[in-house]
Amino acid sequence: MRLANKIGIVTAAASGMGREGAIRFAAEGASVAVVDLDGYAAAAVVHRITAAGGKAIGLSGDLTSDDFARDIVRRTASHFGGLDFVWNHVGTPGPALIEGLDWKDFDFAMNLNVRSVLVTTEAALPELRARGGGSLLFTASTSGLQGSPYSPVYNIAKFGVVGLVKGLAKRYGHENIRVNAVCPGTTDTPMLRVFVARPDSQLPPGETPETLVVKRGGLNPMGRVAQPAEIANAALFLLSDEASFVNGVALPVDGGATA
Ligand SMILES: NC(=O)c1ccc[n+]([C@@H]2O[C@H](COP(=O)([O-])OP(=O)(O)OC[C@H]3O[C@@H](n4cnc5c(N)ncnc54)[C@H](O)[C@@H]3O)[C@@H](O)[C@H]2O)c1
Repeated sequence: MRLANKIGIVTAAASGMGREGAIRFAAEGASVAVVDLDGYAAAAVVHRITAAGGKAIGLSGDLTSDDFARDIVRRTASHFGGLDFVWNHVGTPGPALIEGLDWKDFDFAMNLNVRSVLVTTEAALPELRARGGGSLLFTASTSGLQGSPYSPVYNIAKFGVVGLVKGLAKRYGHENIRVNAVCPGTTDTPMLRVFVARPDSQLPPGETPETLVVKRGGLNPMGRVAQPAEIANAALFLLSDEASFVNGVALPVDGGATA
């Protein structure tokens, strides 16, 4: 078991890649806090894990609330008796518009993509230190590695996440706290449909989110979108002790799109 006796948090864990990760990590021996805005879907993930003999709790709330983003650490550590890893997976596409941008949308994108993950991290660091180290993983994106004409605000946020990862990795490596990012390419989740259907996004006349998702898949060398489990596999590696000397990496899992 690759995460035997580890205790961890996965945010945005009721759907998509986070859900795959939470289920996979529990199957690999971790006790997992399944954190999500959607409490019913989070409870279903917890049920799936516990029915298979794993350990999980559901924590439902809005991570744009600093109190909740902090509280998930306290509640997880007190329930399971410590904390070894966090997958800060939560994020949002943000507005595609630049001209006519609603600044409330900008603030929301920065709050959820950048501020909330830093608030959770601030709370998690003492818990990881108390265990003699640990692993922090963030979800950036290929949009944290290269520009996107349709997502400059998302670019700001996800380049910010990659910057945060690199700074934290250098700051906390000496405490055996590793900090990395996974950078998914287009991945088959509900968020991808939201992403391509935004006003001023890539949706030309005659296209639907579904047709565009297929076309976007064709933009990487492997010619398809990723499945959530393919991202969760990379997350599992980065969180586990198999990656014991991997620190400060922003790993593309994109079929070669950014090669
Ligand atoms: N899907 C893609 O193509 C893609 C590509 C690159 C990066 N990402 C990143 O992956 C992450 C999203 O993962 P996904 O594609 O698996 O999404 P998803 O749509 O499958 O799931 C998103 C989950 O986040 C939860 N959520 C939304 N707002 C929240 C909030 N304020 N507080 C708590 N939970 C909240 C939702 O309830 C939902 O369960 C984001 O960080 C996104 O930027 C996605």
